[in-house]
Amino acid sequence: MHYLHPFDDIHLICGHGSTGLEILEEVPDPDVILVCCGGGGLLAGISAAVKLSGKSHTRIYGVEPEQACLMYMSKQLGKVVQNPSVHSIASGLAPPYAGNNAYRHVAKYVDDILLLSEAEIIASVSRLYHAGLVVEPAGAAAFGALLFDKVPDVKGKKVVVVITGGNVSPQELCNIVQTTPLQDPSDDEVARNNLDQQKSVSVNNEVQYYEENVVTGSVQHCEDNVATVSIQ
Ligand SMILES: Cc1ncc(COP(=O)(O)O)c(C=O)c1O
Repeated sequence: MHYLHPFDDIHLICGHGSTGLEILEEVPDPDVILVCCGGGGLLAGISAAVKLSGKSHTRIYGVEPEQACLMYMSKQLGKVVQNPSVHSIASGLAPPYAGNNAYRHVAKYVDDILLLSEAEIIASVSRLYHAGLVVEPAGAAAFGALLFDKVPDVKGKKVVVVITGGNVSPQELCNIVQTTPLQDPSDDEVARNNLDQQKSVSVNNEVQYYEENVVTGSVQHCEDNVATVSIQ
């Protein structure tokens, strides 16, 4: 019998590496890869696989909730951080500590950790829903980093967003979609702060959902930091 830690088992991290290799099969030379981060196992595996495949120029970003940014803090402090009281609507991204094995990979292979507010996470779920994807909050966070312009230097770059998990009840999804102030980024409060009409991210409805749950898209920054995402 082997206890498999949900995010810090080294074999599990190796297994997550297969997602990194699948990404490179689909997109051999990505400029940016965005991966949500809870305890960090998924991010550790993907980043190690990609960087060890010789893609040293590929920037890999983890994405965490602001309210549960233990990997971000670990990276800042140079040691694993724990806080049992963190909480986020993206519950999968709010474990009480960053994984130790995961952290060692993140420290070595991940370029930076980007943070999202709860409202931004909710809006990301809603946005994906309106593009035809049912994604739970934890699974939508990496996309949110793109949606809310958190990723540096994406103009004309090839960006891969890893979308994970559709474990959201119809009721929760309904609440999110109905209550988010961000359903239409061109016409809501946070969007006005972060994205004006020109900056709004347009996602066409023909999102391809690969078997590996990897959505790839090309991102162009137009005038004025206008981000247009077309997910192929
Ligand atoms: C949907 C989803 N995506 C991503 C993650 C993050 O995985 P990790 O804890 O390996 O960072 C989780 C964690 O539970 C999750 O539920």
